[in-house]
Amino acid sequence: MTMLNNDVLKILASKEDIENIVSDLASKISDDYKDKNLLMLCILKGAVVFMGDLMKHLSIPTQIDFMKVSSYGSSTESSGTVNIVLDLHRKDLSDLDILIVEDIIDSGKTLSYLVDYLLLKGAKSVKTCTMLDKPSRRVVDFVPNYCGMTVPDEFVIGYGLDYDENYRALPFIGVLKPEVYS
Ligand code: IMP
Ligand code: MG
Repeated sequence: MTMLNNDVLKILASKEDIENIVSDLASKISDDYKDKNLLMLCILKGAVVFMGDLMKHLSIPTQIDFMKVSSYGSSTESSGTVNIVLDLHRKDLSDLDILIVEDIIDSGKTLSYLVDYLLLKGAKSVKTCTMLDKPSRRVVDFVPNYCGMTVPDEFVIGYGLDYDENYRALPFIGVLKPEVYS
């Protein structure tokens, strides 16, 4: 493995694993949304790499958009309050089938908040697609519609995911060595 960063404890998904996961997800989404009006909504910044890969693999048309939320108190623990930092600037969502694209679900608070928010704003439908899920960390009941891979309760980085804004460009998903943040 080239480019194995010194701060990575172990690799959970290689570049090749990720390619297979993404192309499987894209074919399911292409099938499910072929008669719908898809808007893929990327949650910045973590989902940007996943979103770029996923949209290239779709066999159906899509529009894209971005939102940014902040929920983190410290670098590894969520504060639990979701703040919208960048909103979706579209007046009418009533003809859009929105698929929220997220990097990872932890407590579930971010995505459950965003689903409710977009439905309240009048979206025709709202579903969620996450690359990673940490179900053992759930605080609110939340199950994604599409999920790439379930991960254990460890801090993961790479493929868009950061610790203190670093490691996002790593082409694999790995566990960060605890000594980096403790
Ligand atoms: P939730 O609202 O607790 O589900 O938080 C989800 C957000 O927390 C994700 O969008 C990530 O930005 C961040 N997050 C949670 N776990 C990790 C992790 O292991 N590595 C990097 N970011 C994480
Ligand atoms: Mg995120």
